[in-house]
Amino acid sequence: MKFEDEIKRRRTFGIISHPDAGKTTLTEKLLLFGGAIQEAGAVKSNKIKKGATSDFMEIERQRGISVATSVLGFEYKDKKINILDTPGHKDFAEDTFRTLTAVDSVIVVVDVAKGVEEQTEKLVEVCRMRNIPMIVFINKLDREGKDGFELLDEIEQKLHLKVTPLSYPIGMGYDFKGIYNIYEQNVNLFTGDPKKDIEDTVEVKDLNTKELDELIGDTAAETLREDLELAEGVYPQFDKEEYLKGELQPVFFGSALHNFGVRELLDCFIDIAPPPQPKEGEEREVKPNEDKFTGFVFKIHANMDPKHRDRLAFVKVVSGKFERNKPYKHVRLSKNLKFSSPSAFFAEKKQIVDEMFPGDIVGLHDTGNFKIGDTLTEGEIINYKGTPSFSPEHFRYINNADPMKSKQLYKGIEQLMDEGVAQLFTLELNNRKIIGTVGALQYEVIQYRLEHEYGAKCSYENINVHKACWIETDNEKSEEFQDFKRVKSKFLAKDKHDQLVFLADSPFSLQMTQQKYPSIKFHFTSEF
Ligand code: G4P
Repeated sequence: MKFEDEIKRRRTFGIISHPDAGKTTLTEKLLLFGGAIQEAGAVKSNKIKKGATSDFMEIERQRGISVATSVLGFEYKDKKINILDTPGHKDFAEDTFRTLTAVDSVIVVVDVAKGVEEQTEKLVEVCRMRNIPMIVFINKLDREGKDGFELLDEIEQKLHLKVTPLSYPIGMGYDFKGIYNIYEQNVNLFTGDPKKDIEDTVEVKDLNTKELDELIGDTAAETLREDLELAEGVYPQFDKEEYLKGELQPVFFGSALHNFGVRELLDCFIDIAPPPQPKEGEEREVKPNEDKFTGFVFKIHANMDPKHRDRLAFVKVVSGKFERNKPYKHVRLSKNLKFSSPSAFFAEKKQIVDEMFPGDIVGLHDTGNFKIGDTLTEGEIINYKGTPSFSPEHFRYINNADPMKSKQLYKGIEQLMDEGVAQLFTLELNNRKIIGTVGALQYEVIQYRLEHEYGAKCSYENINVHKACWIETDNEKSEEFQDFKRVKSKFLAKDKHDQLVFLADSPFSLQMTQQKYPSIKFHFTSEF
């Protein structure tokens, strides 16, 4: 196959949702269509069960599963599909944000009864800011839930999206009869039997024929006609270009558990979703069809065997062809590296491959060379943008609890930070180290892993920090900046890239500081 065709047939995307909306179930059904797995129940849910905060076995189990399901690749109708897993648990939100830098589009799953939930709002906001094309799947139609129009309204208002339904439910819950596929103009009848032939749809080109009444009954047919008329009047016509620009989001209805409405979603997805897209580097934009290979690390996973500290770095191929055993330049370290056993991901299996194309994810064994955001090229200096750190939500001092093991402790902290488990800030005043995390769970993960993988012990101590802001100034020598550094010295720290960070202890003090020093910029992410 020609290089260009290999690129065009790839679809790399993520599924995002609030926990429990049905992401795992939908993923599994998509894999079933691709023939990548044989039976339901094969994809293990990677969610952390409620109340697992201090259950280390659970954390370890989670790490194992999340390697297996980090990337799920499969073939469907000549398309190569890569699903990148995004943890739904809010304590791992930063992981999800980083994974979103490697997707070309997303599918958003919404629970028909719960509607738009908190995590969905946060994740969609990130996708919206980056204009990532999104398709919405409203799930669990076999249960009682909100009315279709009410949900579409809610999605528009809470997620600030412009939606248009491409399918519409006929009844719901107990009365759920099926789905009218606006995109394909046919009716799929719901039998509740997950084994029902998935291609079993009835074409209904003209909604006004008696055929529809016979198919779903007079009342349901009448309601459907009214609903569709209303939908047509209220929502814009689907326009692929608008969708690709992130300006219009098509919506599908269905039930992942019953494998219903999923084929419609998948067929439309492979039809409209974008192939690998160009990526902005600090130096220039890189197109997928360029000859030379470039790629970036968006995720690092520690080895499951604590005795071996090697890790797996997940690299998204942005341009050119990645080849096994060919030397590539690690741009940050300015050194050449060769990879003898790069892995590709098929369903839940990892397999050594000789070449990979734009859109693909390569797993590379790493002995400590990689950090999140690192770029590999054939020699050109490119630094890909888009892997920022956000201000953590929690902050604690980290102390060495075993003075004989301080070397191990610092090595461990450094490597865990490279993996992106948490953020490290070093206070300017006294060099004390502060760990910032998105959720409380990470503190336990860090403590556990430092002990089991590095043989080091740590303890934590509370510190009152509300937010971390990255500081920017045009003139470091200005009186204002010097005054800021003097007066706020207690609150200033360096992040792992040596960028200056202001640790505000309350929203009020942050506001006062911003007012007092108007020439200084306070950023809430590390990339500005
Ligand atoms: P998540 O990955 O988004 O967290 O959700 P997951 O797929 O694990 O689904 C959460 C729960 O919702 C599961 O039930 C799952 O079976 C159920 N579910 C998913 N899709 C549908 C659907 O279309 N209809 C109905 N009625 N339920 C659905 P659970 O009891 O929490 O887990 P399990 O014991 O079934 O694994």
